[in-house]
Amino acid sequence: MSITQNLTTSISSSSSSFLAPSSFNSRRQNVSLPAKRVGVCKCVATPQEQEVQTAYKTKVSRNANIAKLQAGYLFPEIARRRSAHLLKYPDAKVISLGIGDTTEPIPEVITSAMAKKAHALSTIEGYSGYGAEQGEKPLRSAIASTFYSHLDIEVDDIFVSDGAKCDISRLQMVFGSNVKMAVQDPSYPAYVDSSVIMGQTGPYQKDVEKYGNIEYMRCNPENGFFPDLSAISRPDVIFFCSPNNPTGAAATREQLIQLVQYAQDNGSIIVYDSAYAMYISGDNPRSIYEIPGAKEVAIETSSFSKYAGFTGVRLGWTVVPKQLLYSDGFPVAKDFNRIVCTSFNGSSNISQAGGLACLSPEGLQAMQEVIGFYKENTNIIVDTFESLGFKVYGGKNAPYVWVHFPGRSSWDVFSEILEKTHVVTTPGSGFGPGGEGFVRVSAFGHRENILEACRRFKQLYK
Ligand SMILES: Cc1ncc(COP(=O)(O)O)c(C=O)c1O
Repeated sequence: MSITQNLTTSISSSSSSFLAPSSFNSRRQNVSLPAKRVGVCKCVATPQEQEVQTAYKTKVSRNANIAKLQAGYLFPEIARRRSAHLLKYPDAKVISLGIGDTTEPIPEVITSAMAKKAHALSTIEGYSGYGAEQGEKPLRSAIASTFYSHLDIEVDDIFVSDGAKCDISRLQMVFGSNVKMAVQDPSYPAYVDSSVIMGQTGPYQKDVEKYGNIEYMRCNPENGFFPDLSAISRPDVIFFCSPNNPTGAAATREQLIQLVQYAQDNGSIIVYDSAYAMYISGDNPRSIYEIPGAKEVAIETSSFSKYAGFTGVRLGWTVVPKQLLYSDGFPVAKDFNRIVCTSFNGSSNISQAGGLACLSPEGLQAMQEVIGFYKENTNIIVDTFESLGFKVYGGKNAPYVWVHFPGRSSWDVFSEILEKTHVVTTPGSGFGPGGEGFVRVSAFGHRENILEACRRFKQLYK
């Protein structure tokens, strides 16, 4: 068996529950493709499932909560499959519309501010070391006035961070292990995985593809991608992402009023992930605080990642209003502040200089242009799948297109698309059992790659 075959076999036989064993049989490609690889493959295979052979073992037992996790985090698994594909087809021009990483250069008005800050660090006057853990005041003020003007969010309610994903885990540390979570199903995997790691869940139940003690709130075309809140049993914390990754659905004002009302009636806390809010084109709310009463029940986390191409720079923020209280009356913000001060030393001063530049009038204009570019990509992808007769969701208010393949396993469709078109997508079931039968196509890509991927989709599904 060749190395390629060996690796491919070991990957497809992964015992992950959400990673359905690939039943897709590789057939000869029927699409003729240019022979050249696009860009650099950054796929790093984590040795998670490989047994580390050492003669010496410590006496420390493995964290039983981490041991509950099923295989790898979704995106490293996709990267592994992509690597295996490249070994199989070394000359293939692989296009990645899977992981949801930004591709377009950061506008110069933003990078020049970061460069200036970096150079200033080499001078006596411009040097600064540790900053405030909560972020620099001017950036916190700019976030407040840009995203929360007229919403009565105060500057010290805002905590600047190294990204929304990191804040999701810090929030889980705040909540601890004795809470019950609810998540949209499908949803961004970090909510469920961090909940498992914190010990909030029971073991994984293979038959239903869910962890125990998490409320999976089904979101599908039939319910307009908004859960039936009357059908869930009371959670302490509700993770809610709008516009949603992966479905692309943006909740309406009426739906968010219902959500806030539910939290008020049940004494739950909402963690509202608005990482894609600037992609909204209609009049859907861009912040949960547009809903009256939300400050008493909701935290909001957001990010510069998908607005300014900061996925590598790393900058985000979380709003914890001082009105949000625990059952004993203690402010949640004080505990969040304690966790931030204990486990985080503040965002990089260079990325904060970039964030401030993002929120200048020129920076805002530049971000709108980048977002507009990705939205054009989204339209191209939506038009392609619709012209092929597929039912397509999302896209309008988010950089993700949620394509329906009724009755099919989403991992099989993922494999079919990869095998026959060399395009990496994301299987819907990787976002939870509610994603089965769907594939997420990301609009983050250079225009020529989006056009080429769409040409290949047309050849495959014509
Ligand atoms: C819904 C959602 N929240 C958070 C993140 C992570 O954002 P950040 O890069 O700020 O950590 C992502 C990234 O894809 C996301 O889709």
